[in-house]
Amino acid sequence: MQVAMINDEILPLDKLDSAYLDRGLYFGDGVYEVVRSYDGKIFALDEHLARFANSLAGIEIDDVNIEQIRKKIIDAFETAKIQNARIYFHITRGSAQREHNWDDHIKPNFFLTITELPDFTGLKEKGIAVLIQPDLRWKKCWIKSLNLLANILARHAAAAKGCDEAILVDDAGMITEGSGSSFFAVSGRGLRTAPLTANILPSITRSYVIKAAEKLNIEVVEKSLTPEEAKNADELFLTVTTKDIIPVIKFDDETIGNSQPGAITKNLISEFLKFTK
Ligand code: PDD
Repeated sequence: MQVAMINDEILPLDKLDSAYLDRGLYFGDGVYEVVRSYDGKIFALDEHLARFANSLAGIEIDDVNIEQIRKKIIDAFETAKIQNARIYFHITRGSAQREHNWDDHIKPNFFLTITELPDFTGLKEKGIAVLIQPDLRWKKCWIKSLNLLANILARHAAAAKGCDEAILVDDAGMITEGSGSSFFAVSGRGLRTAPLTANILPSITRSYVIKAAEKLNIEVVEKSLTPEEAKNADELFLTVTTKDIIPVIKFDDETIGNSQPGAITKNLISEFLKFTK
């Protein structure tokens, strides 16, 4: 008889919930998005859905109706009634017996959660410490894939040294981005960040920060920087949907600026929040 075992329980394979046969579990064969709401208003949903569609195409999951996904998200959001919500959703290629190749008729699985977003005000007011780690990810980081082992191991290594984020450095010695965020440096009145061609995720928050900088007449240079250049910057910050802009006051044990969030970073936070109203 074909059997399955879940922890200590053995059961006939045909009694196994198909969720255990999800290719997302076996292979990370799926893509995801994290969206947030500000005071009851979902932010940048169009941009997230556009990126989600690109990620699906990137791993050849076809025939997903993005407008139906939008409706699911809004229905769940209206049911949850959470003002400042973290909206996580993913689509995997589906459930089947474990085989590397897939059958074209496999049906994708959709999963979503809506949870309270923690209050990161304290973190944003104080700033965080980051640690550099080698960027060991694959070559298609523009796809927001469920394959996050390299990301989570880098984050864990940073946390083991008391740091909140790992800043990834590629084989050429250039900073790409954080394990779960985009990375910016401020020097003088200018911003530096890696270009989208640098094997990074096209972050939505990054795009809005660039818009905010333009409104504040702050020059933005999309050119990768080295850890040395980051250490000598006047200010550093990270950008990510769940925290929008987080000042960095310690980079690989080096104090940044006066170890307080920088003035330009704080101006960008205020300008960014205008987009969320
Ligand atoms: N992470 N770079 C990486 C590798 C990311 O995983 C993320 C987001 C970002 C920021 O993208 P955005 O501004 O669109 O959120 C950049 C999500 C939040 C996560 O994995 O939880």
